[in-house]
Amino acid sequence: MSLPPPSPRGTALITGASSGIGAAMARALASRGYGTTLVARDVNRLRRLADELRTYGARVEIVEADLTSRTDRAELQACVKRTGLAVDILVNGAGAATRGSIAECDLDVELRHMELNMISVVDLCRTFVDGMIARNSGAILNIASTAAFKPMDRQGTYAASKAFVLSFTRTLRHELQDTPVTVTALCPGPVATDFDRRAGFAAEEIAAIPSVMWKSADDVAAVAVDALERGAELCIPGRANVADATMSLLKTKQLASQAVSR
Ligand SMILES: NC(=O)c1ccc[n+]([C@@H]2O[C@H](COP(=O)([O-])OP(=O)(O)OC[C@H]3O[C@@H](n4cnc5c(N)ncnc54)[C@H](OP(=O)(O)O)[C@@H]3O)[C@@H](O)[C@H]2O)c1
Repeated sequence: MSLPPPSPRGTALITGASSGIGAAMARALASRGYGTTLVARDVNRLRRLADELRTYGARVEIVEADLTSRTDRAELQACVKRTGLAVDILVNGAGAATRGSIAECDLDVELRHMELNMISVVDLCRTFVDGMIARNSGAILNIASTAAFKPMDRQGTYAASKAFVLSFTRTLRHELQDTPVTVTALCPGPVATDFDRRAGFAAEEIAAIPSVMWKSADDVAAVAVDALERGAELCIPGRANVADATMSLLKTKQLASQAVSR
C-alpha cells in the first residue's frame, strides 16, 4: 500500500481542483476519507466543490493561487504551513494548452503556460517532498499526458511541457527509490473536461478524436487513485491510449535506430 492513510493532520493538496481531472481527484480522495487542500484561481468553483466534499464528512481548505506566479506559489506554501497540515499527497493537476503553430503563437501566453505546466510542478514537488521524506510517507501524482510521448503539431509547447513532466517525474521517483515516498506520472489521453474548449480546439477537431480514446474525468481519477495505491510509476488510462503511447515510443525508437552516426 503506497498511499499514506488518511490522518487528521495530513492533507492531499490538489492543484487544478476547480475543474476536470483535479476536481475528480479531489472527490475520489475525499470519498476515501482524505482531507483535501484545493488550489486554483477560480475561488467560486473551489468553494462549491469544498461544500460538496464536506458532505462526505471530509476536511477541506481552499487556496486561491495563480500557479504561474512565483509569489502565489510561495504564498501557497506559507498558507499550508499556517494550517499546520502536512502534505501527504500532492497532485499536480493544473495545466493549460493553446492551439496554434509555434511561428504564430502569442509568446507571452506560451511562456505562462510553460511556467504553469512545468515550473510550478518542479516548485511544488521541491517544496513538499522534504516533509514527505522526513515523515517517511508520501505520494506525488504529476499529471502529464499521452502528448508527453510525441511531438504534436499546433500544440508544440504543450506536448514538450508534458514530456518534461514525464521525464521529471520519473527522475524524482528514481531519486526517491530508497524512501517510502512514491511518485507517479498520470498520462491521460483525451478526457471530457473544459480543457479543449479553454485551449481553443475547434468542435470538428474534438469530434475527429476516436470515441474509444475518450475517458471521463471520474474514470481517470479512479484509475489514478488505483495507481497511487499500487505506487505505480506510470498510469495511462484506457487500452487505446496505451496503444497510442506505445506507437509514439516505437516511432521514437525507429528514429533513434535511423540516426546512426559514423
Ligand atoms: N482533458 C484532457 O484531454 C487532458 C488530457 C491529458 C492531460 N490533461 C492534463 O490534465 C490536467 C487537468 O486538465 P483538465 O482536463 O482537468 O482541464 P481543466 O478542466 O481545464 O482544468 C484545468 C485546471 O487547471 C487550473 N489552472 C489553469 N491555469 C491555472 C493557473 N494559472 N493557476 C492555477 N490553476 C490553474 C484550472 O483552474 P482555474 O482556471 O480555476 O485556475 C483548472 O482547475 C492538465 O495538466 C492537463 O494538461 C488533460
